[in-house]
Amino acid sequence: LNYLTPKSRQEVLDLLVTGLKRLEYRGYDSTGVAIDSPDNKDIVMVKRTGKVKVLEDAIQEHFSGGEYSEPVNTHVGIAHTRWATHGVPCERNSHPQRSDEGNSFVVVHNGIITNYNDVKTFLAKKGYEFESDTDTEVFAKLVHHLWKKHPNYSFRELVEQAIQQVEGAFAIAVKSKHFPGECVASRRSSPLLVGIKTKTRLATDHIPILYGKELRPHGQTRELPVLPRSESTSEFMPLEEKEVEYFFASDASAVIEHTNRVIYLEDDDVAAVRDGTLSIHRLKKSLDDPHAREITTLKMEIQQIMKGNYDYFMQKEIFEQPESVVNTMRGRVRFDGNAIVLGGIKDFIPEIKRCRRLMLIGCGTSYHSAVATRQLLEELTELPVMVELASDFLDRNTPIFRDDVCFFISQSGETADTLMALRYCKQRGALIVGITNTVGSSICRESHCGVHINAGPEIGVASTKAYTSQFISLVMFALVMSEDRLSLQQRRLEILQALSKLADQIREVLKLDSKVQELAKDLYQHKSLLIMGRGYNFATCLEGALKVKELTYMHSEGIMAGELKHGPLALVDGSMPVLMIVLRDPVYVKCMNALQQVTSRKGCPVIICEEGDEETKAFSTRHLEIPRTVDCLQGILTVIPMQLLSYHIAVLRGCDVDCPRNLAKSVTVE
Ligand code: G6P
Repeated sequence: LNYLTPKSRQEVLDLLVTGLKRLEYRGYDSTGVAIDSPDNKDIVMVKRTGKVKVLEDAIQEHFSGGEYSEPVNTHVGIAHTRWATHGVPCERNSHPQRSDEGNSFVVVHNGIITNYNDVKTFLAKKGYEFESDTDTEVFAKLVHHLWKKHPNYSFRELVEQAIQQVEGAFAIAVKSKHFPGECVASRRSSPLLVGIKTKTRLATDHIPILYGKELRPHGQTRELPVLPRSESTSEFMPLEEKEVEYFFASDASAVIEHTNRVIYLEDDDVAAVRDGTLSIHRLKKSLDDPHAREITTLKMEIQQIMKGNYDYFMQKEIFEQPESVVNTMRGRVRFDGNAIVLGGIKDFIPEIKRCRRLMLIGCGTSYHSAVATRQLLEELTELPVMVELASDFLDRNTPIFRDDVCFFISQSGETADTLMALRYCKQRGALIVGITNTVGSSICRESHCGVHINAGPEIGVASTKAYTSQFISLVMFALVMSEDRLSLQQRRLEILQALSKLADQIREVLKLDSKVQELAKDLYQHKSLLIMGRGYNFATCLEGALKVKELTYMHSEGIMAGELKHGPLALVDGSMPVLMIVLRDPVYVKCMNALQQVTSRKGCPVIICEEGDEETKAFSTRHLEIPRTVDCLQGILTVIPMQLLSYHIAVLRGCDVDCPRNLAKSVTVE
């Protein structure tokens, strides 16, 4: 929003597009922008599928007319680059989403509104017709509905009312042709900040928060509780400066070239800009709420901001896992009622329950998520479960039957081998279930049903957070399949409880980072690393070895500990680096046998064990202790030290962490 110096709409558009380019790493399947028409009576939107560049070209074509170059004093524009969570990437599903054909309210949104179906049903009854498959459109229409119901409400009050009705995660910015020159933004769980650019030094380092107990029709005297400053009686707490530009953005990389002064909004803050003033409002005040939001000064460069405090995207993605696993479960797992709903496959569950067998098919890391969950799937579905590498599956012309259910697991949803295997199975009449991180990808489109893992964009070529989210998606599926099995209820409960604690436990494991880095210093000059384990943790060995190979170019092998004496033991001597996963699960005694076999050959393994397990720790001087969780989820906690270890070894060896040589993020050739 521009108050600083007059700007033309074209300049506003330039500014928005540059902001989108900086945010493109957060989502890159479609883009869109909305600004006011030259007569200020309408909102003009341009949306495109694909990268920001496509939008930029379209904008140049669309807004080349002279009327868009006239300078204006104040203007609100909003823009978005999308990573689909609901609905395939296409113009119709791109943001901004609108309330009606007249573009009364337009909205950009990050996150997932989990109760969008309920709100949609409510609004449909009121006569609203939906044009997209997005959860976001529901929000735009909800604000419109409230505006019709409460014509006297301010723009801020309408949005405030609307956010009370939605559940899930959002960072949202709304623009309206009924409130020109105004913008209202809010967040819950998804990040949102306000950048402030002024000509002179800012006269304040904080913005007071306005609290209100209830919404009142516009124009009535309103009750404004405890505020530290006398000006607090006005509805909008003005910044001293009148000449100011505000930027709402999901992260600082979009605004840093304009200003380094930002306010990080908190959950349920409603920030509104009107007549060049910014206010931050909260509906309720709790005892420990602060009176103000601080204006912080950023001291980072753009590249740094995109990666947060991390040096590489892969490192950032490893550390995002406490949040990404929650996003995978968001709106699906009800811990209070022990219920799980997977909206994308729920109608197919009866058919899946009648199947002959489950086949899990993928490549690379995605294949490992199948290995990791196979045992639990067998236990909870009581069906035969086959796990297959897509390429090998095709080479073998594997027999497939009409009553098979085939899962295709793929982060990108575009891996050629996996896609070919999907088509092969589909042709033979099997039910096709897609497990992907990319809505609208080929695997998504060609599946009969599926689960979107919602891990967020993964940029590092070596997959990390997608693995843990695929893992959890398959665990959730197993839980759904066993919902009505009385004998399995205790087991289900145990897993559900463990899922509810998982994010915190991942945070604990991530604290091992500096210890893992020390370990990497011991290992990085070696030629090889053997990783051993069995049972639920065998997948971690395979995935850990894959990470080491991909990132560090060292040789590494994931070894099933039960196979040790059938060959791999010959590799072990005093100098061969070995890592062993030994947890207190049903295969503990067998793992201990393997550990003894290794130590008696002078091997000095690094041990990943449970916190406080002194007996196991006694076998080596080097260990990483991880918190205890239920056996079938332990693989999530054991894989994280492996991700960190491969990362640190790669850094020490001077490898390109985000783009390892010879590899591609998405392999679209067979
Ligand atoms: C490539 C990547 C791997 C990935 C595999 C499968 O080989 O380098 O990191 O695990 O493809 O990718 P997908 O997108 O199908 O999960």
